[in-house]
Amino acid sequence: MDWGMKNRMRRIFQQDGKTVMLALDHGYFLGAVSRLENPAKTITPLIPYADALMLTRGILRNCIDTKFDVPVVLRVSGGNSIIGKDLSNEDITVSIKEAIRLNASAVALSIYVGADYEHQTLVNLGRLVNEAEDAGMPVLAVTAVGKELEKRDAKYLSFSCRIAAEQGARFVKTYYCQDFYKVAESCPVPLVIAGGPKLKNDADVLKIAHDAIREGAKGVDMGRNIWQSREAIAMISAIKSIVHENASVNKAVEIFNSIANKRKK
Ligand code: R5P
Repeated sequence: MDWGMKNRMRRIFQQDGKTVMLALDHGYFLGAVSRLENPAKTITPLIPYADALMLTRGILRNCIDTKFDVPVVLRVSGGNSIIGKDLSNEDITVSIKEAIRLNASAVALSIYVGADYEHQTLVNLGRLVNEAEDAGMPVLAVTAVGKELEKRDAKYLSFSCRIAAEQGARFVKTYYCQDFYKVAESCPVPLVIAGGPKLKNDADVLKIAHDAIREGAKGVDMGRNIWQSREAIAMISAIKSIVHENASVNKAVEIFNSIANKRKK
């Protein structure tokens, strides 16, 4: 690995090899989702707690102050929308030159394994890796399932993650699932997990993060379950304690409650 690639990966994955990424790229196909109507207002207070931000160039340029020295994982695929015909019909929408101009530490693209546009998204991944490797830029592949959330089982996710790694992704974002260790075991590059739609119970979010790390994930790349939480700072802090300090679920719940209670006073 050349210095640039190594340094970018090292900026995202901390000294312990783990990361707490904050995902806020949802608008690229969902528009202004709840709590991200004004991204700067919601996200700015959370930036000091995040090891990296995953977002689009539009939100980076317009809503994130350049004073923050936080690594950026830039969403470079798109061309679809939730009201369009097929979510899997994505293409590469941002060049590597633009990613370098924005001082990105990695670029992210979704693959839709088993969907109508599987071929297109996998060829996109290969093409992006070719260009990104030339620039020393890591590629994060996201194993997207579109509207078919029920697809998220160990068999499907390990299949998708492995294909992403085989195509050259330097790290892969997927979902937590039962028997997640099977997904982690068969993927030769670091895995980070998404949170998915907001869960009702804060402890359930912490349990997912905890179990994913215990079963081999190298971190999280969560969005809605952090910034849609009634106590977003408490939530990201509790998740950090799990990822970087191996906190138990109970300990993380304690951390969550203690920060949340202090903030209410
Ligand atoms: C979805 O395609 C986006 O890449 C999100 O970044 C991803 O789903 C993670 O966010 P959440 O934790 O809200 O699922």
